[in-house]
Amino acid sequence: MPSSRNTRSQPPITHAPLTHTAGAPSLRHPADRAARSRAAARPGPSPAGQQSAPAAQVLSCGARPASSPAGLVGDTPVLWIGSPFSPPDRGFWAKLEGHNPGGIKDRTALHMVEQARLRGDLAPGARIVESTSGTLGLGLALAGVVHGHPVSVVTDPGMEPQMAGLLAAYGADLHLVEAPHPVGGWQQARRDRVGELLAAHPGSWCPDQYNNPDNTAAYRPLAHELVAQLGRIDTLVVSVGTGGHSAGVGHVLRAVHPHLRIVGVDSCGSTIFGQPATTRLMRGLGSSIFPGNVDYALFDEVHWVAAPEAVWAARSLARDQYATGGWSVGAVALVARWLARTGPAEQRVVAVFPDGPQRYVSTIFDDHWCRERDLLDRPPADDPHEIGHPADDVVTRWTRCTTVVDPLARRAAPDGDADPNGDADPNGDADPDGDAGPDGDAGPGVADRDEPDRRATCTATGDVRFVGTAR
Ligand SMILES: Cc1ncc(COP(=O)(O)O)c(C=O)c1O
Repeated sequence: MPSSRNTRSQPPITHAPLTHTAGAPSLRHPADRAARSRAAARPGPSPAGQQSAPAAQVLSCGARPASSPAGLVGDTPVLWIGSPFSPPDRGFWAKLEGHNPGGIKDRTALHMVEQARLRGDLAPGARIVESTSGTLGLGLALAGVVHGHPVSVVTDPGMEPQMAGLLAAYGADLHLVEAPHPVGGWQQARRDRVGELLAAHPGSWCPDQYNNPDNTAAYRPLAHELVAQLGRIDTLVVSVGTGGHSAGVGHVLRAVHPHLRIVGVDSCGSTIFGQPATTRLMRGLGSSIFPGNVDYALFDEVHWVAAPEAVWAARSLARDQYATGGWSVGAVALVARWLARTGPAEQRVVAVFPDGPQRYVSTIFDDHWCRERDLLDRPPADDPHEIGHPADDVVTRWTRCTTVVDPLARRAAPDGDADPNGDADPNGDADPDGDAGPDGDAGPGVADRDEPDRRATCTATGDVRFVGTAR
């Protein structure tokens, strides 16, 4: 059962878990099978000659033992986030992906690597190379340990010291680009280094999580877990970076609960849902490109959240609930809290918390760092600003829009108007963590240099009309 600190807040879940109901998708997908075989791998070698304890002496079942660290991925807990973070009787359930060894991206790193090995794209012992500044790096380090691959992570000076230290501790090879590319900024500099490393290591492989369908499929088990843990779900709140977990979880949950409302959460200054690229402090969610894995048709509405609002929510969660995380956790919690407060009392709202707070000790949870960036003492408004269309305004604070469009109109324009890779950047660069550069603040001109091309691409589709820039 999920833990529930505030029993007043919502009726307890009394139904039987729905994992194997007729409406639930079967476990035929490779991601589901992989998760099941990882779970099956959990009971480690039982000590020879050990007698099983009489049932009467078993006081706690505990977690099943794992014979591989991959067996620790998944089956994360859900926690009721109630008062005082949310109003009494109006809370939501948080799926705590920070309980994975590295974070939510452990799921996708393992699955992408396992599928690449099955296909023969990644040979035994071959090197994995990726540009990342965060959670995926930890997941790839885990996959490298589990499957015996060296891992090279290309990053920039914006990587938090805690993250760099962890990656090094887990055996990843860190490559720091020291200067932005004169035209394409930090993202291009990182991409160039990835290319150099791929060329230097014949047989090495880059996962490309923005466009790799295995990234999306990796999250199907997360949806099955939610159904088993909570049963009925009315509203799902998910952050969007590559689009992987929103699409993977959203598809399965909507098949089980056709009425499900799916709410995407993006960062102000991110292009994903049709805003112009601007400098961004927030990492994890958001992007300055158009990831191919974002499934626009799934979303009923999108919210953009600004950095001070996410900081307020992440810090409040830490104090009120002892369960918090980074930029994406703060942003989804803010939105889920509002949806729970303003929707019907009986609705069941679930938010996915992608990671925990550790990585953000020297940023979001550091008073000095926050003060220098004017992020403190700026609580969010009670309600989001509302716009009718993503092109109606350039948003700089928490904003809601119930019109969700694919800025490249990929599904609406099968005649080839859109870049088939879903990458609007003519340089094809992609920051797998959706971050905007060193210190997360895009650095001088990263977003600026890329922006005109993206604006032109969007405008050419006729779908999104930018009315200005936020500079
Ligand atoms: C901490 C964090 N939150 C949210 C996201 C967004 O998840 P997705 O890439 O599945 O859209 C990411 C992606 O890198 C992340 O690292």
